[in-house]
Amino acid sequence: MIPTTVLSDTLTVSALGLGGMGLTAAYGGTTTQEAVATVNAAIDLGVTFLDTADVYGEPRPGTEGPPGTNEEMFGQVLATRRDEVQIATKFGITGAVGDGIPTRGDAAYVQAACEASLRRLGVETIDLYYLHRRELDRPIEETVGAMAELVRQGKVAHLGLSEVTGPELRAAAAVHPIAAVQSEWSLWSRDVERHVVPAAIEVGAGFVPYSPLGRGFLTGTLTRESLAGTLRAGQARFEEHFEANQQVVEVVRSVATEVDATPAQVALAWLYAQGRRLGIPVVPIPGTRRAERVAENAGALAVELTEDHLTRLDAVADRVQGGRNLGFAGPTWISAGRE
Ligand SMILES: NC(=O)c1ccc[n+]([C@@H]2O[C@H](COP(=O)([O-])OP(=O)(O)OC[C@H]3O[C@@H](n4cnc5c(N)ncnc54)[C@H](OP(=O)(O)O)[C@@H]3O)[C@@H](O)[C@H]2O)c1
Repeated sequence: MIPTTVLSDTLTVSALGLGGMGLTAAYGGTTTQEAVATVNAAIDLGVTFLDTADVYGEPRPGTEGPPGTNEEMFGQVLATRRDEVQIATKFGITGAVGDGIPTRGDAAYVQAACEASLRRLGVETIDLYYLHRRELDRPIEETVGAMAELVRQGKVAHLGLSEVTGPELRAAAAVHPIAAVQSEWSLWSRDVERHVVPAAIEVGAGFVPYSPLGRGFLTGTLTRESLAGTLRAGQARFEEHFEANQQVVEVVRSVATEVDATPAQVALAWLYAQGRRLGIPVVPIPGTRRAERVAENAGALAVELTEDHLTRLDAVADRVQGGRNLGFAGPTWISAGRE
Protein backbone atom coordinates (compact mmCIF):
# COMPACT_ATOMS: atom_id res chain seq x y z
CA MET A 1 0.00 0.00 0.00
CA ILE A 2 0.95 3.62 -0.47
CA PRO A 3 1.88 5.64 2.64
CA THR A 4 0.20 8.95 3.38
CA THR A 5 1.63 12.46 3.56
CA VAL A 6 0.44 15.32 5.73
CA LEU A 7 0.25 18.08 3.12
CA SER A 8 -0.73 20.73 5.63
CA ASP A 9 -2.09 20.87 9.19
CA THR A 10 -5.43 19.22 8.46
CA LEU A 11 -5.02 17.62 5.03
CA THR A 12 -3.57 14.13 4.70
CA VAL A 13 -3.40 12.47 1.28
CA SER A 14 -1.78 9.44 -0.34
CA ALA A 15 1.95 10.13 -0.84
CA LEU A 16 1.44 9.85 -4.60
CA GLY A 17 -1.56 11.29 -6.41
CA LEU A 18 -3.12 10.61 -9.78
CA GLY A 19 -3.22 13.46 -12.28
CA GLY A 20 -6.49 13.26 -14.18
CA MET A 21 -6.00 15.70 -17.04
CA GLY A 22 -4.79 13.11 -19.57
CA LEU A 23 -7.77 10.87 -18.80
CA THR A 24 -9.74 13.07 -21.14
CA ALA A 25 -8.15 14.67 -24.21
CA ALA A 26 -4.76 16.25 -23.46
CA TYR A 27 -1.98 13.95 -24.60
CA GLY A 28 -3.82 11.41 -26.75
CA GLY A 29 -6.91 9.33 -26.77
CA THR A 30 -8.65 7.22 -24.20
CA THR A 31 -12.23 6.17 -23.57
CA THR A 32 -14.30 6.97 -20.50
CA GLN A 33 -14.40 3.25 -19.74
CA GLU A 34 -10.58 3.00 -19.81
CA ALA A 35 -10.25 6.18 -17.76
CA VAL A 36 -12.63 4.90 -15.09
CA ALA A 37 -10.74 1.59 -14.99
CA THR A 38 -7.43 3.41 -14.48
CA VAL A 39 -8.80 5.53 -11.65
CA ASN A 40 -10.28 2.43 -9.97
CA ALA A 41 -6.96 0.59 -10.32
CA ALA A 42 -5.15 3.55 -8.77
CA ILE A 43 -7.48 3.57 -5.77
CA ASP A 44 -7.05 -0.21 -5.39
CA LEU A 45 -3.30 0.42 -5.16
CA GLY A 46 -3.74 3.13 -2.53
CA VAL A 47 -3.23 6.12 -4.86
CA THR A 48 -6.26 7.94 -3.50
CA PHE A 49 -5.38 11.62 -4.02
CA LEU A 50 -7.19 12.38 -7.28
CA ASP A 51 -6.66 15.54 -9.32
CA THR A 52 -9.12 17.01 -11.79
CA ALA A 53 -10.34 20.46 -12.92
CA ASP A 54 -13.55 21.85 -14.36
CA VAL A 55 -11.70 22.89 -17.51
CA TYR A 56 -10.30 19.41 -18.34
CA GLY A 57 -11.98 17.71 -21.29
CA GLU A 58 -13.00 18.58 -24.83
CA PRO A 59 -14.98 21.80 -25.21
CA ARG A 60 -18.66 20.99 -25.68
CA PRO A 61 -19.93 22.52 -28.94
CA GLY A 62 -22.61 25.12 -28.42
CA THR A 63 -21.97 25.57 -24.70
CA GLU A 64 -19.97 28.16 -22.82
CA GLY A 65 -17.65 27.70 -19.87
CA PRO A 66 -15.51 24.79 -18.70
CA PRO A 67 -16.61 21.47 -20.21
CA GLY A 68 -16.50 19.47 -16.98
CA THR A 69 -16.22 16.11 -18.73
CA ASN A 70 -13.13 15.08 -16.75
CA GLU A 71 -14.97 15.79 -13.50
CA GLU A 72 -17.94 13.76 -14.74
CA MET A 73 -15.64 10.81 -15.42
CA PHE A 74 -14.29 11.04 -11.85
CA GLY A 75 -17.92 11.33 -10.69
CA GLN A 76 -18.56 7.82 -12.05
CA VAL A 77 -15.87 6.48 -9.72
CA LEU A 78 -16.83 8.63 -6.75
CA ALA A 79 -20.40 7.35 -6.95
CA THR A 80 -19.24 4.18 -5.19
CA ARG A 81 -15.83 5.10 -3.72
CA ARG A 82 -16.25 8.60 -2.25
CA ASP A 83 -15.00 7.66 1.21
CA GLU A 84 -11.79 6.07 -0.09
CA VAL A 85 -10.37 9.15 -1.81
CA GLN A 86 -9.28 12.75 -1.47
CA ILE A 87 -10.72 14.62 -4.46
CA ALA A 88 -9.12 17.83 -5.65
CA THR A 89 -10.52 20.03 -8.39
CA LYS A 90 -9.93 23.53 -9.75
CA PHE A 91 -11.78 26.51 -11.16
CA GLY A 92 -10.89 29.87 -12.65
CA ILE A 93 -10.06 29.08 -16.30
CA THR A 94 -13.26 29.72 -18.15
CA GLY A 95 -12.44 28.43 -21.60
CA ALA A 96 -9.80 27.32 -24.06
CA VAL A 97 -6.30 28.76 -23.70
CA GLY A 98 -5.66 30.70 -26.88
CA ASP A 99 -4.55 34.25 -27.36
CA GLY A 100 -4.32 34.80 -23.62
CA ILE A 101 -6.12 32.78 -21.01
CA PRO A 102 -9.69 33.52 -19.98
CA THR A 103 -10.02 33.65 -16.20
CA ARG A 104 -12.62 34.70 -13.64
CA GLY A 105 -12.37 35.07 -9.90
CA ASP A 106 -15.34 37.18 -8.79
CA ALA A 107 -17.47 35.92 -5.92
CA ALA A 108 -20.51 35.05 -8.03
CA TYR A 109 -18.36 33.00 -10.41
CA VAL A 110 -16.52 31.23 -7.57
CA GLN A 111 -19.81 30.15 -6.03
CA ALA A 112 -21.32 29.00 -9.34
CA ALA A 113 -18.16 27.17 -10.43
CA CYS A 114 -17.98 25.26 -7.16
CA GLU A 115 -21.63 24.25 -7.29
CA ALA A 116 -21.20 23.03 -10.87
CA SER A 117 -18.16 20.94 -9.86
CA LEU A 118 -20.01 19.46 -6.89
CA ARG A 119 -22.83 18.43 -9.23
CA ARG A 120 -20.51 16.84 -11.79
CA LEU A 121 -18.47 15.02 -9.18
CA GLY A 122 -21.61 13.99 -7.31
CA VAL A 123 -20.15 14.85 -3.90
CA GLU A 124 -21.22 17.12 -1.05
CA THR A 125 -17.75 18.44 -0.28
CA ILE A 126 -14.62 18.90 -2.37
CA ASP A 127 -11.59 17.94 -0.28
CA LEU A 128 -9.21 20.42 -1.93
CA TYR A 129 -10.43 23.29 -4.13
CA TYR A 130 -7.80 25.15 -6.14
CA LEU A 131 -7.85 28.47 -7.89
CA HIS A 132 -6.46 27.17 -11.21
CA ARG A 133 -5.31 30.55 -12.56
CA ARG A 134 -5.99 33.93 -11.04
CA GLU A 135 -7.68 36.83 -12.79
CA LEU A 136 -4.82 39.27 -12.96
CA ASP A 137 -6.96 42.41 -12.74
CA ARG A 138 -8.69 41.25 -9.56
CA PRO A 139 -6.95 41.19 -6.17
CA ILE A 140 -6.28 37.58 -5.19
CA GLU A 141 -7.62 38.40 -1.72
CA GLU A 142 -11.08 38.94 -3.22
CA THR A 143 -11.13 35.53 -4.93
CA VAL A 144 -9.73 33.72 -1.89
CA GLY A 145 -12.31 35.50 0.27
CA ALA A 146 -15.02 34.00 -1.92
CA MET A 147 -13.34 30.58 -1.68
CA ALA A 148 -13.29 30.92 2.13
CA GLU A 149 -17.05 31.39 2.00
CA LEU A 150 -17.29 27.96 0.33
CA VAL A 151 -15.43 26.47 3.30
CA ARG A 152 -17.91 28.14 5.66
CA GLN A 153 -20.75 26.62 3.62
CA GLY A 154 -19.20 23.13 3.91
CA LYS A 155 -18.85 22.81 0.13
CA VAL A 156 -15.07 22.76 0.27
CA ALA A 157 -12.75 21.41 2.97
CA HIS A 158 -9.38 22.94 2.02
CA LEU A 159 -8.14 25.67 -0.29
CA GLY A 160 -5.30 25.49 -2.81
CA LEU A 161 -3.73 27.76 -5.40
CA SER A 162 -2.11 26.95 -8.72
CA GLU A 163 0.71 28.93 -10.38
CA VAL A 164 0.79 31.75 -7.84
CA THR A 165 3.86 33.82 -7.10
CA GLY A 166 5.34 34.01 -3.60
CA PRO A 167 3.73 37.41 -2.83
CA GLU A 168 0.36 36.24 -4.20
CA LEU A 169 0.52 33.18 -1.96
CA ARG A 170 1.30 35.27 1.13
CA ALA A 171 -1.55 37.67 0.35
CA ALA A 172 -3.97 34.76 -0.11
CA ALA A 173 -2.85 32.98 3.07
CA ALA A 174 -3.56 36.15 5.04
CA VAL A 175 -7.24 35.73 4.06
CA HIS A 176 -7.61 31.97 4.64
CA PRO A 177 -5.18 29.07 5.30
CA ILE A 178 -3.86 27.59 2.06
CA ALA A 179 -3.37 23.83 2.30
CA ALA A 180 -1.53 23.26 -0.97
CA VAL A 181 0.16 24.95 -3.89
CA GLN A 182 -0.03 23.12 -7.20
CA SER A 183 2.47 24.33 -9.77
CA GLU A 184 4.74 22.73 -12.32
CA TRP A 185 7.84 21.33 -10.64
CA SER A 186 10.19 18.67 -11.92
CA LEU A 187 13.80 17.99 -12.82
CA TRP A 188 13.50 20.32 -15.80
CA SER A 189 11.08 22.95 -14.38
CA ARG A 190 12.55 24.33 -11.18
CA ASP A 191 11.63 28.03 -11.21
CA VAL A 192 9.20 27.56 -8.27
CA GLU A 193 12.17 26.83 -6.01
CA ARG A 194 13.19 30.51 -6.16
CA HIS A 195 10.21 32.16 -4.46
CA VAL A 196 7.12 29.95 -4.42
CA VAL A 197 8.46 27.03 -2.39
CA PRO A 198 9.94 29.32 0.31
CA ALA A 199 6.59 31.16 0.54
CA ALA A 200 4.73 27.85 0.79
CA ILE A 201 6.99 26.74 3.64
CA GLU A 202 6.35 30.08 5.35
CA VAL A 203 2.54 29.81 5.17
CA GLY A 204 2.43 26.08 5.95
CA ALA A 205 1.17 24.90 2.55
CA GLY A 206 2.28 21.58 1.09
CA PHE A 207 3.36 21.30 -2.56
CA VAL A 208 1.67 19.29 -5.29
CA PRO A 209 4.02 19.28 -8.30
CA TYR A 210 2.11 19.02 -11.56
CA SER A 211 3.64 17.60 -14.75
CA PRO A 212 6.24 15.87 -12.52
CA LEU A 213 7.32 13.72 -15.46
CA GLY A 214 7.78 16.76 -17.68
CA ARG A 215 4.53 15.92 -19.52
CA GLY A 216 6.13 12.54 -20.25
CA PHE A 217 9.44 13.87 -21.60
CA LEU A 218 11.54 12.79 -18.61
CA THR A 219 10.45 9.17 -19.04
CA GLY A 220 12.27 8.98 -22.37
CA THR A 221 9.23 7.50 -24.10
CA LEU A 222 8.20 10.51 -26.19
CA THR A 223 8.89 10.77 -29.89
CA ARG A 224 8.61 13.86 -32.05
CA GLU A 225 5.59 12.25 -33.69
CA SER A 226 3.78 12.05 -30.34
CA LEU A 227 3.75 15.83 -29.84
CA ALA A 228 1.25 16.92 -32.48
CA GLY A 229 -2.23 17.69 -31.24
CA THR A 230 -1.22 17.45 -27.58
CA LEU A 231 -0.64 20.04 -24.86
CA ARG A 232 3.09 19.69 -25.51
CA ALA A 233 2.84 21.25 -28.95
CA GLY A 234 3.94 24.87 -29.05
CA GLN A 235 6.50 24.67 -26.26
CA ALA A 236 10.03 25.15 -27.58
CA ARG A 237 11.46 22.57 -25.18
CA PHE A 238 9.40 19.87 -26.89
CA GLU A 239 9.62 21.23 -30.41
CA GLU A 240 12.82 22.84 -31.73
CA HIS A 241 14.87 21.69 -28.73
CA PHE A 242 13.56 18.12 -28.70
CA GLU A 243 16.91 16.63 -29.74
CA ALA A 244 19.07 18.89 -27.57
CA ASN A 245 16.98 18.06 -24.51
CA GLN A 246 17.58 14.32 -24.94
CA GLN A 247 20.70 14.89 -22.82
CA VAL A 248 18.33 15.41 -19.88
CA VAL A 249 16.73 12.05 -20.56
CA GLU A 250 20.18 10.43 -20.79
CA VAL A 251 21.08 11.51 -17.25
CA VAL A 252 17.75 10.27 -15.87
CA ARG A 253 18.21 6.97 -17.72
CA SER A 254 21.74 6.44 -16.44
CA VAL A 255 20.67 7.00 -12.82
CA ALA A 256 17.68 4.73 -13.37
CA THR A 257 19.95 1.92 -14.54
CA GLU A 258 22.19 2.33 -11.50
CA VAL A 259 19.32 2.14 -8.99
CA ASP A 260 17.41 -0.54 -10.92
CA ALA A 261 14.42 1.72 -11.44
CA THR A 262 12.65 3.27 -14.41
CA PRO A 263 13.22 6.87 -15.58
CA ALA A 264 9.71 7.83 -14.40
CA GLN A 265 10.50 6.49 -10.93
CA VAL A 266 13.77 8.44 -10.82
CA ALA A 267 12.07 11.68 -11.87
CA LEU A 268 9.52 11.26 -9.06
CA ALA A 269 12.11 10.11 -6.52
CA TRP A 270 14.09 13.30 -7.23
CA LEU A 271 10.99 15.36 -6.34
CA TYR A 272 10.53 13.49 -3.05
CA ALA A 273 14.21 14.04 -2.27
CA GLN A 274 13.92 17.70 -3.18
CA GLY A 275 10.96 18.09 -0.82
CA ARG A 276 13.00 16.56 2.00
CA ARG A 277 16.03 18.75 1.25
CA LEU A 278 13.95 21.95 1.14
CA GLY A 279 11.74 20.98 4.08
CA ILE A 280 8.30 20.89 2.46
CA PRO A 281 5.77 18.05 2.03
CA VAL A 282 5.67 17.11 -1.65
CA VAL A 283 2.98 14.96 -3.29
CA PRO A 284 3.46 14.62 -7.06
CA ILE A 285 0.45 13.84 -9.26
CA PRO A 286 1.79 12.08 -12.37
CA GLY A 287 -0.85 11.54 -15.03
CA THR A 288 -1.29 8.32 -16.94
CA ARG A 289 -4.02 6.50 -18.81
CA ARG A 290 -2.54 3.11 -17.94
CA ALA A 291 -3.04 1.23 -14.69
CA GLU A 292 0.36 -0.48 -14.95
CA ARG A 293 2.03 2.93 -15.09
CA VAL A 294 0.26 4.02 -11.90
CA ALA A 295 1.89 1.01 -10.24
CA GLU A 296 5.24 1.83 -11.84
CA ASN A 297 5.05 5.44 -10.67
CA ALA A 298 4.14 4.34 -7.15
CA GLY A 299 7.39 2.37 -7.16
CA ALA A 300 9.18 5.73 -6.90
CA LEU A 301 8.39 5.78 -3.19
CA ALA A 302 10.87 2.93 -2.70
CA VAL A 303 13.69 4.41 -4.80
CA GLU A 304 16.66 5.74 -2.85
CA LEU A 305 18.96 8.19 -4.55
CA THR A 306 22.47 8.84 -3.26
CA GLU A 307 24.15 12.26 -3.00
CA ASP A 308 25.98 11.48 -6.22
CA HIS A 309 22.73 10.68 -8.05
CA LEU A 310 21.12 13.86 -6.75
CA THR A 311 24.09 15.97 -7.80
CA ARG A 312 23.90 14.61 -11.34
CA LEU A 313 20.12 15.05 -11.51
CA ASP A 314 20.29 18.57 -10.00
CA ALA A 315 22.61 19.64 -12.80
CA VAL A 316 20.25 18.86 -15.68
CA ALA A 317 17.98 21.89 -15.17
CA ASP A 318 20.71 24.31 -16.22
CA ARG A 319 21.16 22.45 -19.50
CA VAL A 320 17.48 22.42 -20.53
CA GLN A 321 16.76 24.42 -23.65
CA GLY A 322 13.41 26.17 -23.95
CA GLY A 323 11.23 27.37 -21.09
CA ARG A 324 7.93 26.05 -19.83
CA ASN A 325 5.77 29.03 -20.70
CA LEU A 326 3.20 28.87 -23.46
CA GLY A 327 4.11 32.02 -25.37
CA PHE A 328 0.55 32.65 -26.49
CA ALA A 329 -0.97 32.31 -23.02
CA GLY A 330 0.53 35.45 -21.50
CA PRO A 331 1.69 36.15 -17.93
CA THR A 332 -1.28 34.43 -16.26
CA TRP A 333 -0.06 31.01 -17.28
CA ILE A 334 2.97 30.51 -15.05
CA SER A 335 3.97 32.25 -11.85
CA ALA A 336 7.51 32.85 -13.11
CA GLY A 337 6.05 35.07 -15.84
CA ARG A 338 4.97 37.54 -13.14
CA GLU A 339 8.05 37.46 -10.88
N1 LIG B 1 -2.49 23.15 -12.25
C1 LIG B 1 -2.21 23.12 -13.54
O1 LIG B 1 -2.20 24.15 -14.22
C2 LIG B 1 -1.86 21.82 -14.19
C3 LIG B 1 -1.22 21.81 -15.44
C4 LIG B 1 -0.88 20.58 -16.00
C5 LIG B 1 -1.21 19.40 -15.33
N2 LIG B 1 -1.85 19.45 -14.13
C6 LIG B 1 -2.19 18.22 -13.37
O2 LIG B 1 -1.01 17.47 -13.18
C7 LIG B 1 -1.20 16.15 -13.69
C8 LIG B 1 0.11 15.59 -14.22
O3 LIG B 1 0.68 16.41 -15.20
P1 LIG B 1 0.73 16.02 -16.73
O4 LIG B 1 -0.24 14.94 -17.00
O5 LIG B 1 0.67 17.29 -17.48
O6 LIG B 1 2.22 15.50 -16.95
P2 LIG B 1 3.10 14.31 -16.35
O7 LIG B 1 2.41 13.65 -15.25
O8 LIG B 1 4.43 14.89 -16.13
O9 LIG B 1 3.21 13.35 -17.62
C9 LIG B 1 2.11 12.72 -18.18
C10 LIG B 1 2.57 11.95 -19.40
O10 LIG B 1 3.53 10.98 -19.01
C11 LIG B 1 3.15 9.69 -19.47
N3 LIG B 1 3.51 8.75 -18.40
C12 LIG B 1 2.98 8.66 -17.15
N4 LIG B 1 3.62 7.71 -16.43
C13 LIG B 1 4.56 7.19 -17.23
C14 LIG B 1 5.53 6.19 -17.07
N5 LIG B 1 5.66 5.51 -15.93
N6 LIG B 1 6.33 5.88 -18.13
C15 LIG B 1 6.23 6.54 -19.30
N7 LIG B 1 5.32 7.53 -19.52
C16 LIG B 1 4.50 7.84 -18.49
C17 LIG B 1 1.67 9.75 -19.75
O11 LIG B 1 1.33 8.96 -20.84
P3 LIG B 1 0.26 7.75 -20.73
O12 LIG B 1 -1.06 8.35 -20.40
O13 LIG B 1 0.30 7.14 -22.09
O14 LIG B 1 0.76 6.83 -19.67
C18 LIG B 1 1.47 11.23 -20.12
O15 LIG B 1 1.67 11.44 -21.49
C19 LIG B 1 -2.28 16.33 -14.76
O16 LIG B 1 -2.89 15.11 -15.08
C20 LIG B 1 -3.19 17.32 -14.11
O17 LIG B 1 -4.05 16.67 -13.20
C21 LIG B 1 -2.15 20.65 -13.56
